[in-house]
Amino acid sequence: MRSDAKTMNVPFFRPPIGEEEIAEVTSCLRSGWLTSGPITKRFEQEFAEAVGARHAVAVNSCTAALHLAVEALGLAPGQAVLVPTMTFAASAEVVRYRDAVPILVDCDPVSFHIDLADAERKIELLAAGKVAAAGGETPKVVGIIPVHVGGLMMDIDALRDFAARHELWIVEDAAHAFPAAWRANDTEPWQRCGEDTSAVTCYSFYANKTITTGEGGMAVTGDAQLADRMRMMSLHGLSHDAWKRYSGGGSWDYQIVEAGYKYNLTDIASAIGVHQLPRAEQMRKEREAIARWYSDALADVDEIELPIAPKNRIHAWHLFPIRLRLEKLRVDRNAFLSSLREAGVGCSVHWRPLHLHPYYERFGWTPEAFPAATPLWQRLVSLPLFPGMQDAERDHVAEVVRTLCSQNRA
Ligand SMILES: Cc1ncc(COP(=O)(O)O)c(C=O)c1O
Repeated sequence: MRSDAKTMNVPFFRPPIGEEEIAEVTSCLRSGWLTSGPITKRFEQEFAEAVGARHAVAVNSCTAALHLAVEALGLAPGQAVLVPTMTFAASAEVVRYRDAVPILVDCDPVSFHIDLADAERKIELLAAGKVAAAGGETPKVVGIIPVHVGGLMMDIDALRDFAARHELWIVEDAAHAFPAAWRANDTEPWQRCGEDTSAVTCYSFYANKTITTGEGGMAVTGDAQLADRMRMMSLHGLSHDAWKRYSGGGSWDYQIVEAGYKYNLTDIASAIGVHQLPRAEQMRKEREAIARWYSDALADVDEIELPIAPKNRIHAWHLFPIRLRLEKLRVDRNAFLSSLREAGVGCSVHWRPLHLHPYYERFGWTPEAFPAATPLWQRLVSLPLFPGMQDAERDHVAEVVRTLCSQNRA
């Protein structure tokens, strides 16, 4: 490797915070109004417009948004929900919050999306009492929580067809998918993620997401009743006027209608969000340009497979996961990842599938039940990808990957 290779350190992600965000946060701090108030209202309205949704509820994480969504849809103890095994903790844990059963589903080995054919199989096995996670019972499957992994949207028509056939609600885990869109083919108009793509679409504004508020999330829906329920439950289950009370316009009196949660987003966080939002498409384009550059620069490296970029998708490019061809390498993924880090390339793995975590092992899932996800995760490495990444940083990442592959060729 070149001599500067050792000295350069490329982080996995660097949040692109501009002067506007800093000025707005400062002004919020000086205003005397720190918690949910006018800036959060504005963020909700502008976000709803950006994705083409009728209602948006700002919350303090995507996890909170997912939890509120399944609660509002009436997910009850003992019911079952289809959840991909190839996802982050949040997508399934919210099902457990309701004492319901996540039925883990295998993934497509290339897109990493939930495999609807396996979902179909899981429903059949459940009906036959053959799913250990359900304890031999036949719980009612009421919903599905697909994940647009890395910001690449699923085929929404296929998803909706599947859900309609099985009478399931859909809650999209769109933690990675803002801004993103899909269309069935070149003659169809684009449909944005969140533009009536499901009952509720949930986004994350965690520090490394495509737009950030430090920590934060949003639930969007076209259904006014779901929106009202999520809003009420996000603030202790207080009667609707509690929000007005917060902004000084309402009555001092309020009523507790339900045992809710404390999930509201602060104006300090929204002050960051309202300035990230107008830059979202520009930042997406920057990520897309880097993803294209990586794809060209690494196209001839035989030891890896690159992420796909289907033409009927506007890809949010939250992640750039490569798949190692382990049969062509003398090292495993962990050793490869350690070498990347030693050479100053911040990287990560998305994800160890849920069925391989101790908590989910107790439901009786076996690695063999997920023939795609089980071997796939041992091949995964996510490379750095963020707006503002310097050419020298991008060059360094590609050079290190190329060099490690040639040094470790089998
Ligand atoms: C697919 C997915 N869903 C949900 C979440 C949870 O997001 P948050 O940290 O905003 O709760 C994440 C976080 O990384 C994620 O990757």
